[in-house]
Amino acid sequence: MTNQNMEITTDIYLGDSKKELKKLLDNSVDLIVTSPPYADQRKSTYGGIHPDKYVEWFLPISEQLFRVLKPTGTFVLNIKEKVVEGERSTYVMGLIIAMRKQGWLWTEEFIWHKKNSYPGKWPNRFRDSWERLLQFNKDKHFNMYQEEVMVPMGEWAKTRLKKLSDTDKVRDNSKVGSGFGKNISNWIDRDKAYPTNVLHLATECNNKNHSAAFPEELPEWFIKLFTKENDIVLDPFMGSGTTLSVASRMKRNSIGIEIVPEYYQMVKNQLNPVELYLLEPGAKYEKTEPKRRIAIR
Ligand SMILES: C[S@@+](CC[C@H](N)C(=O)[O-])C[C@H]1O[C@@H](n2cnc3c(N)ncnc32)[C@H](O)[C@@H]1O
Repeated sequence: MTNQNMEITTDIYLGDSKKELKKLLDNSVDLIVTSPPYADQRKSTYGGIHPDKYVEWFLPISEQLFRVLKPTGTFVLNIKEKVVEGERSTYVMGLIIAMRKQGWLWTEEFIWHKKNSYPGKWPNRFRDSWERLLQFNKDKHFNMYQEEVMVPMGEWAKTRLKKLSDTDKVRDNSKVGSGFGKNISNWIDRDKAYPTNVLHLATECNNKNHSAAFPEELPEWFIKLFTKENDIVLDPFMGSGTTLSVASRMKRNSIGIEIVPEYYQMVKNQLNPVELYLLEPGAKYEKTEPKRRIAIR
């Protein structure tokens, strides 16, 4: 095999996702990671959508996302319903049901536990310290690289695994008929385990340029789990461009769409040029002369 150059591109579009997404090709994206504006929130910065209108607003966008996502791809939607007049709004549930009707499979729900949520006191609830990360797919057979997100076994290996019961030592066939069992003794002497579906990440405090930026670890974790190098990652609500900069650092191509010109301009100014990596068989990617090219629409 001869050496190959790998060019990593970052394309950004200014405008409404509903319209701009139409410029992307069918079945062309490997992963969508995004956080849209939540219903009626942050009105002062980029407008809000009334909770009653949220599903209606989002469906034409998710229709386009369905079109551009590859059948092997995944869509991760960060969202959280707000409290309206003392009650949790149900628009996220309405959205999940409407998206399933649109053809999406609701494969999984991850929880983002915000480790550093602000303390506070409310008369009828406690401080909100988690958000939803909804996983949607087009097909049951999607790309997933589970080994990439394994975590150290930690104390488990020393405590519970040392005191296994008899049932733990034999294969405990799944009661849900999935064909998978949980023979816990398989995990003795292993260094790493698969993670849970709860991500413990601090909210972003350093990014002063956007009021709702992702912590970098959030897109990073899903990019590791659902893509390979040279794949394409899309964020249709780009904001400060966290998803794009993380994707680029991880040698994934990325596409971002942002409706507010100031945010778009900020990302444009900060973006690295197209990076050119030298791909050698069996060797780590070496960065070579970067070529200046960013696609600005
Ligand atoms: C929650 S923020 C995303 C923050 C981003 N994850 C980051 O790390 O900076 C949502 C972004 O979507 C943008 N936005 C809102 N409506 C949009 C639309 N219809 N099309 C494109 N972008 C939109 C907002 O201006 C805002 O910057």
